[in-house]
Amino acid sequence: MPQHSTEILAATEAGIARAAQLLREGKLVSFPTETVYGLGADARQGEAVAAIYEAKGRPSFNPLIAHVHSAEAAQRYVEWNGTAETLAQAFWPGPLTLVLPLREGHGISPLVTAGLDTLGVRVPAHPAAQALLRALDGPVAAPSANPSGKISPTTAAHVKAGLDGRIAAILDDGACGVGLESTIVGLAGPEPVLLRPGGLAAEEIEAVLGRKLAVRDVHDPLTAPGQLLSHYAPGAPVRLDAAAPAEGELYLGFGPGACDLNLSERGDLAEAAANLFGHLHRLDALGKPIAVAPVPEHGLGEAINDRLRRAAAPRD
Ligand code: TXA
Ligand code: MG
Repeated sequence: MPQHSTEILAATEAGIARAAQLLREGKLVSFPTETVYGLGADARQGEAVAAIYEAKGRPSFNPLIAHVHSAEAAQRYVEWNGTAETLAQAFWPGPLTLVLPLREGHGISPLVTAGLDTLGVRVPAHPAAQALLRALDGPVAAPSANPSGKISPTTAAHVKAGLDGRIAAILDDGACGVGLESTIVGLAGPEPVLLRPGGLAAEEIEAVLGRKLAVRDVHDPLTAPGQLLSHYAPGAPVRLDAAAPAEGELYLGFGPGACDLNLSERGDLAEAAANLFGHLHRLDALGKPIAVAPVPEHGLGEAINDRLRRAAAPRD
């Protein structure tokens, strides 16, 4: 893991400009939102997004929320609909994330969506987050800015305690007001679904929609994080730790050597993470069994192997 000294930036014009510049360069910047501090990367840069997982030490890839400055900006990346418009009018900017189908030409790294064809988008209300997103004018993927398994940070000091030296900068603008993560509503299916309760009460959403939200239990195959991913496993069989492909198999390589697609020819785990979902989709489209080269089980390799094991798991 590269060691940085983490810059603490004030939420001034200069601090915001510096934070936007670092994001453009593919670096990680923690920034305040009204819910919790986020750990942001430019959502279009796969290796930057991979670095989020590396910094957090997250052992698996979960879909991340893309933060944008406005509902108009959100529509660059997702298919909009009437319910989204109603909820955006009522609650954006604010602690509400909407999950919608990705739109054509979205440019979002598949590592942000963990290979799904939907994207969680949110317009945060915090003035420093707004200013940063406007300065970048691009989508920022951000989970909460805590090491995996630790509690979510609501001050810059919490972020520093957990991630100092692992990220480029922290944009410090005091304590978060809500302190609870955003409410997530799924709008990609036939009816609106509450995917995660959070800082905006479900009743408020239901009052605006004039209907109850369907609730998806955490044990439901589509929301339990692990199963969410295995649900999207390739159609063809996947064989792991393969030193070479067998007859009729496609070969997904890692490191130098002949293969159909290479996760990272130079054996770089961040590059491999950035390529993982896109490469699996491309090989899957060819409709043949896939053999995968061994990927080392350290750093980001842990999350990569977790995803590969799900892809290789027996299906029903
Ligand atoms: O308040 C918040 O939402 C904070 C701040 C930083 O914005 N962020 C946050 O991110 O809580 P995170 O990574 O801890 O939670 C994101 C959750 C994922 O666990 C996943 O369940 C859900 O959002 N999610 C994101 N994209 C999704 C998608 N396409 N389909 C289903 N669920 C999705
Ligand atoms: Mg979190």
